[in-house]
Amino acid sequence: MKPRPTSGVHLTGWGSYAPSQVLTNADLERMVDTNDEWIVSRTGIRERRIAGPDETTASMAAVAGLRAIATAGFQPDDIDLIIVGTLTPDYQMPSTAALVKDAIGNRRAAAMDLAAACSGFVYGYATAQAYVASGMARHVLVIGAETLSRYTDFSDRTTCILFGDGAGAVVLSASDEPGGALGIEMTTEPSGAYFIWLPGGGAARPPTASTMAAGEHFMKMKGAETFKMAVRTLGSTALASLAKAGIELDEVDLVVPHQANIRIIEALARSLDFPMARIFVNVECYGNTSAASVPMALTEAVAAGRVKKGDRLLFVAFGSGLTSGAITLEWTADPAAAARAEGIGPEDVSVMPGYLEPVNPFPPALEWLRSGSASRASGR
Ligand code: ACO
Repeated sequence: MKPRPTSGVHLTGWGSYAPSQVLTNADLERMVDTNDEWIVSRTGIRERRIAGPDETTASMAAVAGLRAIATAGFQPDDIDLIIVGTLTPDYQMPSTAALVKDAIGNRRAAAMDLAAACSGFVYGYATAQAYVASGMARHVLVIGAETLSRYTDFSDRTTCILFGDGAGAVVLSASDEPGGALGIEMTTEPSGAYFIWLPGGGAARPPTASTMAAGEHFMKMKGAETFKMAVRTLGSTALASLAKAGIELDEVDLVVPHQANIRIIEALARSLDFPMARIFVNVECYGNTSAASVPMALTEAVAAGRVKKGDRLLFVAFGSGLTSGAITLEWTADPAAAARAEGIGPEDVSVMPGYLEPVNPFPPALEWLRSGSASRASGR
């Protein structure tokens, strides 16, 4: 059948998943030379979640995806395309999206990963929008999912305080009604390509004993440079998206930004002269979950009653690349539909194993957290 272009592309489903293991600032105080006051005042982060040994990016993505599909009122087989934005895939190949397809029991979708770091969800949304609008797909599952704890150097205080694990997802669907995305902007500035990067393990620096010994398999970051560029590009990308949508900033009911650092979000608000009261923030609970952060924040915003039918939302993100993306949309779904996803959890998904002997992927530096519950409970 020939693809038939559609007029509306609506966000019909949403959902998220956060692993249960919590890593607090007090925990980090026991590992590196830092303190709660420094972390909270410089980042706004109080705690983050850490994927358990039986969890991976694919398993968390699958739970968030199933929740989004249920919220939309669909079955897994209704999905034509699965896009997973992630910088922490289970493997270089196969794609995490392929594993997610199997884990949610979908038998017919195409599936692919998308590499745009923390902008991965927004880039995935834009890609899905194009697929649905062109008629190449009717329902697309877009997931942002990360297991950053497995790429974090827990002896580096400048990065280990920032990152956490989790997943969030939306379903985009064809519709003849107006609404959905109004304006989309995406940018990439390679001048900042090495501000945040993971040097080892790729074709340029294949994994060897010496890249491992040098810790090249962990994320590296120039924090101050990233901060400045983030504020600038978040603001310009947001405004470009609004201009394409043909609406003014003061017509936006809620901004859902990438949750990297409360000071970046506050600087964005100042630079746009936009009230913090209309920006959703949950960075204190999860830290920076990269591609997962916008859909996790969206799901919490809807659950908190911050989104209603007819609202104009603005998603805006930045990440390694340096990528940035923003989506202005009109919300058309019933927020109460989230109740359909109640009861869906990790026990409902199963990621097919590889044929090699399984390993424990949990970060060795955090093993004390799992086994050290006695000392945590005693308040030490
Ligand atoms: N605890 C205590 N002190 C610390 C810590 C810590 N965890 N980390 C750094 N410091 C020290 C530094 O060593 C430095 O000390 P010095 O002055 O004696 O040299 C001092 O604190 C100030 O360090 P800065 O790096 O200048 O601190 P800054 O205010 O810039 O905050 C931060 C650092 C939080 C990393 C900030 O730069 C930031 O948030 N940058 C953006 C990070 C970001 O958003 N990354 C997104 C990644 S997106 C992706 O694609 C993965």
